[in-house]
Amino acid sequence: MIILCTNCASKFNVNETLISESGSKVRCSRCQRVFTVHRAIAPKNKEISQFITGAPSPALKQPCRIISVSNQKGGVSKTTTCLNLSASLAMMNQRILMIDFDVQASLTSTLGYQNAHSFYDAIHSGSKFSSYILNTKYARLALLPSDENMILLNRRYFGVNFFEYMLKDRLSRLTDQYDYIFIDTPPSMGYFVLNSLTAASFVIIPCQSEYLSTQGVGQTIKLIKRVKRNTNPRIRSRVLVTMYDHNCTVAKLVVSKLKGSYGGMTFETVIDYDAKIKESQIMKEPVSYYDKHSPAALQYFELAKEIIAMEI
Ligand SMILES: Nc1ncnc2c1ncn2[C@@H]1O[C@H](COP(=O)(O)OP(=O)(O)OP(=O)(O)O)[C@@H](O)[C@H]1O
Ligand SMILES: [Mg+2]
Repeated sequence: MIILCTNCASKFNVNETLISESGSKVRCSRCQRVFTVHRAIAPKNKEISQFITGAPSPALKQPCRIISVSNQKGGVSKTTTCLNLSASLAMMNQRILMIDFDVQASLTSTLGYQNAHSFYDAIHSGSKFSSYILNTKYARLALLPSDENMILLNRRYFGVNFFEYMLKDRLSRLTDQYDYIFIDTPPSMGYFVLNSLTAASFVIIPCQSEYLSTQGVGQTIKLIKRVKRNTNPRIRSRVLVTMYDHNCTVAKLVVSKLKGSYGGMTFETVIDYDAKIKESQIMKEPVSYYDKHSPAALQYFELAKEIIAMEI
């Protein structure tokens, strides 16, 4: 049986017959973390069993959770978070679909795709919607790309009756195929963000640890409240601090301001500023594949664990 270390995600082959019925403690030979593994069949500990690869137990199957990654401010790590959190969850045996819902198509190009068909094509052609979804070279990680045609959606549909439900309607047909659907959004209010917030049950609001980014969080939370009143009463959100610099006093002040203002609405995990993120983007890989021991890769694994543990 293949297991993943809950700390550094190193893979090991373990003889399943040596694992007791109540689970056995093992030590990762790479990072020395001690953790409990359970047999793949009928695992008892829900959280730990998420790290065992292989088919998920039907008993653990939860409905698909749709998560929007949004902030009205640009350059705060929305796309980076969408990709790297998705990749970490996929490594933890979750089936992930990422939707690139931004005309900039950064998520699509970060994965090395060019001239791929987008949501625009998927809703205007006669073909099956799911036929536009690409299975990336990474296990359990699928992508619906973006392209320049996406701009036409805003022009054609923004303001038309019920336009906010266009994405939600399409995703409702896919929810049995994925454990999580992540939607990467642009830093602007309009067709894309409103569709994404209407489709999602949860919003991750990445916030760079600098003063101006906190204003973007305030604007985004206001928008989420509007969406809650109008099209999606069940939506919830949490702020994720990104690009944190441990040596920067302003970063520390920003984090304490965010924790003060948004209390329980912030993730425990903070994503550091890490040059490996930039290197991984040049190599067109998620950071957990590029360098799984880098601070950012480990932090995205921690974030994935927080997400799994949350009731979304
Ligand atoms: N943890 C990190 N460490 C270092 N650099 C990072 C980190 N997260 C993101 N970046 C860099 O910051 C820049 C902005 O990131 P990203 O494109 O993910 O932001 P965004 O919010 O999606 O931007 P946009 O609003 O334009 O869509 C990129 O150059 C990315 O490489
Ligand atoms: Mg982006």
